[in-house]
Amino acid sequence: MTLLSDAPSLAQESLEAFWMPFTANRQFKAHPRMLVKAEGMYYTTDDGRRILDGFAGLWCCNAGHCRKPIVEAIQKQAAVMDYAPAFQMGQPLAFELANRIVGMAPDPLDHVFFCNSGSEAVDSALKIAIAYHRVRGEGARTRLIGRERAYHGVGFGGISVGGIPVNRKMYAGAMIPGVDHLPHTHNLEKNAFSRGQPEWGAQLADELERLVALHDASTIAAVIVEPMAGSTGVLIPPRGYLERLREITRKHGILLIFDEVITAFGRMGAAFASEVYGVVPDMITFAKGVTSGTVPMGGVIVSHDVYQAFMSGPAGSIELFHGYTYSAHVLACAAGLATLQLYEDEGLFARAARMAPKLEAALHALRGSRHVIDIRNQGLVGAIEVAARPGTVGARGFDIFLRCFEKGVLVRQTGDIIALAPALIVEDSEIDRMASTLRDVLAGLD
Ligand SMILES: Cc1ncc(COP(=O)(O)O)c(C=O)c1O
Repeated sequence: MTLLSDAPSLAQESLEAFWMPFTANRQFKAHPRMLVKAEGMYYTTDDGRRILDGFAGLWCCNAGHCRKPIVEAIQKQAAVMDYAPAFQMGQPLAFELANRIVGMAPDPLDHVFFCNSGSEAVDSALKIAIAYHRVRGEGARTRLIGRERAYHGVGFGGISVGGIPVNRKMYAGAMIPGVDHLPHTHNLEKNAFSRGQPEWGAQLADELERLVALHDASTIAAVIVEPMAGSTGVLIPPRGYLERLREITRKHGILLIFDEVITAFGRMGAAFASEVYGVVPDMITFAKGVTSGTVPMGGVIVSHDVYQAFMSGPAGSIELFHGYTYSAHVLACAAGLATLQLYEDEGLFARAARMAPKLEAALHALRGSRHVIDIRNQGLVGAIEVAARPGTVGARGFDIFLRCFEKGVLVRQTGDIIALAPALIVEDSEIDRMASTLRDVLAGLD
């Protein structure tokens, strides 16, 4: 067995076959950034450099890397039963994990559908929403409402309700029909340098009334939003905005889906963002943090009413024609159970809430640094937005990302926005290092 950390550096031609996702392939392959080992808050590169992980991998390794209880649970399970089909068969860990997740979820969300990624979770939630109305005799409710700048993964459902132009334009003619979008909530004129939830913008939720007037409620199945929009560059919901969406959707019998693929399992300082914002949707999608990124897993938590609506017809008939070969994969379930136990044992959600003011202070101290036009944060998430270089959106952001990596800190870049989302075990000194690295990089940037 070749351990990654012992593997020789790959020759340039060996990098060709892998078509890397969401990556500048030619740039990467000319200047590879290869990670071979991970522990706690750090990665190690193939040339032996330790990299402080400011982004929990990709918003997912919330417990930190290679945590022993999770590693051991996966190893142990792999030797006992590698795989069990989830169609018409069961294995105990799936039920145990569903119970555990339901126990953490807000009432009345009390059933879990499992899949393998955030994208699948979103597509599953959208399908469940449309099917829900149909089984209740409202089959005309098929329209889905997303939001500009939203990221809901890369499935056809996800890009259709999503609102990131570069993710959509190649597939414009192939997206699912009957989708409309709310306006996004990003407004630097009103909200720049907000700490936590911005004051301005609740009224943007009223745009939903306009869409209902246009399409009629009887055609609308669901509204899907990220409570905190992460991948588009950290857009914190304005005060009162999510509450208003909840009111309007309830009034019109429209399901509200919170896409919590990033925000669930501690990122905002609680199990779910729904809890932080005090707004309970009809469905929550999750992925990433459920296994701390160790084994792919995603899912949808649905309300009592949504689940029960399907439980009619003959008891021997399948209620939902949807599922994945790897739904509730036993290794993912083992990883999930160990991860949720670790979050509880170490009080990591509360820890995230305690560390949030530190991250806020460290980031906002960068106000006034070169090119910085906004800093925003909530929970253990923060973002710094810099002015784009004229005519080259994203180039300055990419430079910041590369220079931080050279200085031993991994951050995430979207356009000209740099996001930080460290594991919930992050220490003060590590937050200081992320901020001082960013300060140095910004100072030297053209
Ligand atoms: C809110 C949200 N939904 C869906 C996804 C897609 O998840 P995945 O990459 O696991 O398919 C992401 C990924 O970052 C996300 O942030």
